[in-house]
Amino acid sequence: LHVGLLFGGNSSEHDVSKRSAHNIYDAMDKNKYVVDLFLIAKNGVVLSSQASRKIFDGADENKVVANEMKKIDFSKPLANISNLNSVNDIDVFFPIIHGNLGEDGTIQGLLRLLKKPYVGSGILESAMGFDKDITKQLLTYHGIQNTKYILLTPANYKQWNYAKLSHQLGKLIFLKPANQGSSVGIHQIHNQSEFESGLKDAFKYDYKILAEQAIEGPEEIEISILGNEHPIASQLGAIKVPKQDKFYTYQNKFVDASQVHFEIPVKVSQKLTDRITKMALDAYKVLGLKGMARADFLVSSSGEPYLGEVNTLPGFTNISLYPQLWKASGISYSDLIERLIKLAYQ
Ligand code: DAL
Ligand code: MG
Repeated sequence: LHVGLLFGGNSSEHDVSKRSAHNIYDAMDKNKYVVDLFLIAKNGVVLSSQASRKIFDGADENKVVANEMKKIDFSKPLANISNLNSVNDIDVFFPIIHGNLGEDGTIQGLLRLLKKPYVGSGILESAMGFDKDITKQLLTYHGIQNTKYILLTPANYKQWNYAKLSHQLGKLIFLKPANQGSSVGIHQIHNQSEFESGLKDAFKYDYKILAEQAIEGPEEIEISILGNEHPIASQLGAIKVPKQDKFYTYQNKFVDASQVHFEIPVKVSQKLTDRITKMALDAYKVLGLKGMARADFLVSSSGEPYLGEVNTLPGFTNISLYPQLWKASGISYSDLIERLIKLAYQ
């Protein structure tokens, strides 16, 4: 089977995607799969498989990209994706591109235009799962517990200040771009000046910002889901971030994870495990997800679970929980990849 592994992308998660792609590639049984690599450069240009391979093997990305750009005829329409014209041979795509223009339905739209099956959720479902505002509206509509929030946009943010927000959400508030991953652009705020600077930064990433209630002393728990109409759930894992870091930051995730501890499987009551598992599976169905997703929960000190978000193309880096949770649940890395590819056809 000929698989096109699409990775990189022009979101702030470009480097995370490269790490995910390496692990997925390594886990693929090369007796079963011929793998073509397609790196989407930070400027959005899709590189040829040969150039992508060079970067995969350690060549300097900027140099390879600069060289490849010279070969592309930008006077032609869709020149930025012209390297995909070798796709006729490819049976199925595995788009492991996190974040904007990858996880948000755009790549899925491109693959649909190319008439190719692909791993993961469809266009609308990817877009809904990536947008924290839409996700939360659907969760709330279906009675799946999640944190309270107020949506700030260019049209309404001037009507809000820290005092008004904290009156409704409590003293500790998170500002989060609605469409963003890996904790980029997230700020914890306690006062007006943090509100102003945090909002300014968050608006760099999206025009929709969630001002979200913070859960007291939360435990971060994640669960992996796999499947289409009849999805299955993994065991639960917990992430313990260092005390001084008030949440699971980009730094803790992808720059220096040495201070972060994981507990897999996590020791919580059967009742809480069942509750979280049901909430995650319900959310998966409500959002119409396909293939895979990782659902991230916050559990309050009183033991109440809140579904934070779903990730339709979760990280596959060395510290990422999606594959680790499956391993702990009896599905090896290569088996996982094989199942995901099969699910793309169903
Ligand atoms: N957005 C990152 C890759 C994750 O959720 O794992
Ligand atoms: Mg995410």
